[in-house]
Amino acid sequence: MPARKERISDCYGATVDYEWKRLVQDTYHKLEYRTTLLYLKKHLPGNGLILDAGGGPGRYTIDLAKMGYEVDLLDLTEENINFARQKIREKRVEGKVRETMVANITDLSRIRDNTYDAVICIGGPISHIEGEENRNKAVSELRRVAKEGAPIFIGVFGRIGALMLSVQFWPDEIGLPSFRDFYEKGDDNRWHGRYYAHFFLPEELEDMVKRNGLDLIETVGLEGIGANAKYVNIFSRKDRPGWQNFLEAHDKLAAHPASVGMSAHILAISRKRRTGA
Ligand SMILES: C[S@@+](CC[C@H](N)C(=O)[O-])C[C@H]1O[C@@H](n2cnc3c(N)ncnc32)[C@H](O)[C@@H]1O
Repeated sequence: MPARKERISDCYGATVDYEWKRLVQDTYHKLEYRTTLLYLKKHLPGNGLILDAGGGPGRYTIDLAKMGYEVDLLDLTEENINFARQKIREKRVEGKVRETMVANITDLSRIRDNTYDAVICIGGPISHIEGEENRNKAVSELRRVAKEGAPIFIGVFGRIGALMLSVQFWPDEIGLPSFRDFYEKGDDNRWHGRYYAHFFLPEELEDMVKRNGLDLIETVGLEGIGANAKYVNIFSRKDRPGWQNFLEAHDKLAAHPASVGMSAHILAISRKRRTGA
């Protein structure tokens, strides 16, 4: 049987177009995208070299390149990297994207220590790594390749948010014996039918970050008060000014622990500790 990591790249390899459009497909998904960009802008340094680890088809890599950063992109899925290379040329940012590579975040040995001014690993790459030890290895690799003091952004799937959405999107899963593993341990062996994903509680994500030598700055719920996907999409189409007010409230409350808890995507922003600090 192939290793789980190979299987997850099979899954993403077959859904490259979907993954490219995922963050802009509707208002609900745009919330994840918009909130992530807001917090990237808040915590990134003014310039420098950024690693986009598990960057998929490269949407954030291209955004960061357009903002003037130099970027290295890596992903486990070769199809995503090939697609990203094409998009990078199409969007005319090839001068800012230094390297695009197929790699596993649990082993970044091809990259030297203290290379990056910031590291992002967002939208769930670490959620696809099976086993706590392996997830810790990935975080320690992200830390190793970051410069001292560099911000590190880790985005994972949120357990409570996914449970809230299960009645809407995955009602058939709720009656299965595997549902207990999902809500008790966060482990889902039926992600997209047959792949592995781990869904984090906020405190579990924060513990993972701190245990691996990172100083936590803040944790953000990317969907927050907009976690109700269906009605967010309906309301935002019906009432544009009302939606703008709602967005304002979302931005103000995104880092509130309740917003973090109920989000399907949670972002932890941390910093690599300076030696001697
Ligand atoms: C949901 S996508 C997120 C893509 C992008 N970061 C975003 O936020 O839109 C998850 C990505 O993680 C990648 N991935 C999963 N496991 C990985 C691993 N061990 N190492 C590197 N990338 C991985 C997948 O190939 C996929 O492109």
